[in-house]
Amino acid sequence: MACNHRPPCLLAFFFFAAIASAQLSSTFYSTSCPLAIQTIRQAVRAAVAKEARMGASLLRLHFHDCFVNGCDGSVLLDDTPSFTGEKTAVPNNNSLRGFDVIDNIKSQVEAVCKQVVSCADILAVAARESVAALGGPPWTVQLGRRDATTASLDAANTEIPSPKSDLDDLISAYSKKGLSTTDMVALSGAHTIGQARCISFRDRIYNETSIDSSLATSRQSNCPSSGGGDDNLSPLDAVTCTLFDNFYFRNLVKKKGLLHSDQQLFGGGSTDSLVTTYSTNTARFFSDFAAAMVKMGNISPLTGTDGEVRLNCRKTN
Ligand code: HEM
Ligand SMILES: *[C@@H]1O[C@H](CO)[C@@H](O)[C@H](O)[C@H]1NC(C)=O
Ligand SMILES: *[C@@H]1O[C@H](CO)[C@@H](O)[C@H](O)[C@H]1NC(C)=O
Repeated sequence: MACNHRPPCLLAFFFFAAIASAQLSSTFYSTSCPLAIQTIRQAVRAAVAKEARMGASLLRLHFHDCFVNGCDGSVLLDDTPSFTGEKTAVPNNNSLRGFDVIDNIKSQVEAVCKQVVSCADILAVAARESVAALGGPPWTVQLGRRDATTASLDAANTEIPSPKSDLDDLISAYSKKGLSTTDMVALSGAHTIGQARCISFRDRIYNETSIDSSLATSRQSNCPSSGGGDDNLSPLDAVTCTLFDNFYFRNLVKKKGLLHSDQQLFGGGSTDSLVTTYSTNTARFFSDFAAAMVKMGNISPLTGTDGEVRLNCRKTN
């Protein structure tokens, strides 16, 4: 009889239950909300058609969600007088955007299936659809995350890598999340789209020597060394910023990384050869990026009966 020895059997039960509950699945909504994915896809396409940069902003939301206590929708929670969320953390304040687009997607998803699809999963699907809409690689998105009822300003300030980071800081920030150096370099290719504020790269364009001088000069024109302009925007990838390709890596080998942290990936360190590979091999970059997005999306999800499915992504139920 299988359960003669009760304690080991119970242990085995909890062991497998724990594994099963931590498991996401690509078919999670196929019976409970078969229209979920296409609803999100259409809304992302419309938002990106209206403003290409929104694809970048939605991708970044998923990253900033996953690096702070896992992919649990915590980044979306608004501050209230009695609740402090993550939105005013240094990497997020005056920088993260797309919350209104997520609200719009959530209300469309609620209209087809009430309280079935989590905000954390909406972020994961929106990130995938954003990359697709801008010409990047596809991947099978894993689903079944539930939404947190908590958030952590402190973790948002410490776990999300800073643009001042050196290579060893970047490697260890990803390693803490179970992501490899290859994942880190591939994911950084997201900086082929979107924009950054002057405050994020001012020191680099005025004070660093590892930067192409024509890039420094051109970025200085919209980013004064002092006296304001902190929020002035520049494209992260030096030219297009709305096409998801390997342009970021081609820039790095020319010292045209905009952020200090970007250029850390090329210029004498252990990741130079991988950057060189991606700079000439878009297919390699795409497949590594797609694999790393799946891994990032698997960071400590809430599953089973943990957390909740929020009705409104900005507040707990
Ligand atoms: C390697 C460590 C990383 C650092 C230090 C970093 C830092 C930054 C900074 C400073 C900005 C500009 C923010 C601003 O000035 O307002 C930015 C923008 C962006 N980041 Fe990262 N990032 C990193 C990794 C990632 C990853 C893994 C992704 C996604 C997979 C990502 C996606 C983006 C996107 C798409 C933008 C542009 C957003 C927009 O235009 O709204 N980043 N990042
Ligand atoms: C966030 O940005 C707002 C608006 O610029 C500013 O008033 C506030 O002090 C910032 N908060 C933090 C914590 O930096
Ligand atoms: C450049 O570096 C100097 C010396 O560390 C510093 O005082 C100055 O503020 C920096 N300039 C910019 C624009 O960051």
